[in-house]
Amino acid sequence: MSRRVGLWMIGAHGGVATSVAVGLAALQRQLTESCGLVSELPIFEELNLIDWENMVVGGHDIRQTDSLSEAKKLASGMMAAIRPGLVEQCSEFLNEFNQRIRPGILLNCGPTIEQLGHESYVQEVESGRQAVQQIQADLRNFATEEQCDSVIVINLASTEPIPAELQVPQSWDEVDMLLDGTDCPLPASTLYAIAALQLGFGYVNFTPSLGSSLPALEQLAVQNQTVHAGCDGKTGETFMKSVLAPAFARRNLQIMSWVGHNIFGNMDGQVLNDPVNKKTKVDSKDQLLRQMLGYQPDTHTSIEYIRSLGDWKTAWDHVHFQGFLGTPMVLQFTWQGCDSILAAPLVLDLCRFSEMALRRGEVGTLTFLSSFFKSPIGTQENDFVEQFQLLTDWATA
Ligand SMILES: NC(=O)c1ccc[n+]([C@@H]2O[C@H](COP(=O)([O-])OP(=O)(O)OC[C@H]3O[C@@H](n4cnc5c(N)ncnc54)[C@H](O)[C@@H]3O)[C@@H](O)[C@H]2O)c1
Repeated sequence: MSRRVGLWMIGAHGGVATSVAVGLAALQRQLTESCGLVSELPIFEELNLIDWENMVVGGHDIRQTDSLSEAKKLASGMMAAIRPGLVEQCSEFLNEFNQRIRPGILLNCGPTIEQLGHESYVQEVESGRQAVQQIQADLRNFATEEQCDSVIVINLASTEPIPAELQVPQSWDEVDMLLDGTDCPLPASTLYAIAALQLGFGYVNFTPSLGSSLPALEQLAVQNQTVHAGCDGKTGETFMKSVLAPAFARRNLQIMSWVGHNIFGNMDGQVLNDPVNKKTKVDSKDQLLRQMLGYQPDTHTSIEYIRSLGDWKTAWDHVHFQGFLGTPMVLQFTWQGCDSILAAPLVLDLCRFSEMALRRGEVGTLTFLSSFFKSPIGTQENDFVEQFQLLTDWATA
């Protein structure tokens, strides 16, 4: 009998998660081509990745809405991300997905995310431990009801502020102790990660939130013979940075400054409009140049919320560099991408590759997935080509 894999999405009603659900439905019904899916490249053909028809989706959210309405929003207006007819064709799948969405937790998410949460739809918890237990109950039910052989939990929830109060605990025992206090400082993203890893499920953090980045969670993953990866999906401007900066370095051209202005208008942009949430994202977008170049050029990254743009992000980048004889030159580029449509196939890829790693008996951080992330855990490598080599080496090993 073929294996069945559960993809559990935290932030299940969001733009990315909804696009993942439409995408999976379209793939299962053969209504779309494989464009945008890394795992469909010929080099991964022999890998025996899970088939689309053997994947099932569920998730947590803090907003009480429904998946079909969220998909219709993505398919409406002049700036539609998805063609409306496709949503209609996938409506049965979306209604079933909606039945598998459970109320999430809101611990230490900051006031901007708290305002998104519908009170009646959030699980009331008195400690971090209780939060973990409730999440685990939902995950277990999903795995049992859907007869999943394995489950991969992917964080697609709004970007949390960097937890200010947290003294980084090094060991799992220290983190475990934090769970019992009424003032547990761990953010929701980390509590979801703990819940998944303790059950032996894979965990992937597609956001820049803390998630499983603590060394103690690596320890937890290894103890429970499971895998994790993150952070922050590399889909647009930063993807370009990780391709272009190494090219400059290899030509010995010195980048003096790199300025990037981003504008977009979806709910992610609304949350990132709060300076504390924005800082988490800007730090994630900004840190990789030093590592790729070996020096720190002047950088400036801005993210502005412009409602009319919806899911369509524009990034303008101005790269001021110096060549032979000190002559200054400029590269400018404009990236115009549909955020959820860039992210959704990568989420499906991450689920397939992580599940394969679990099947192969791998444990701990999946560094071979670094090409998918702006701030990869477990490696300093940010050069896209080198990162992609890690993936193909793993696939052909
Ligand atoms: N190209 C991309 O879209 C891209 C790239 C990299 C990273 N990301 C990150 O992925 C995440 C999702 O992006 P999006 O555009 O779908 O955002 P979104 O705002 O549309 O969706 C986020 C969803 O998370 C839910 N949520 C918030 N806190 C939660 C919690 N504690 N528990 C459960 N659900 C919670 C919200 O209600 C919302 O439905 C964001 O953090 C974003 O920064 C997106």
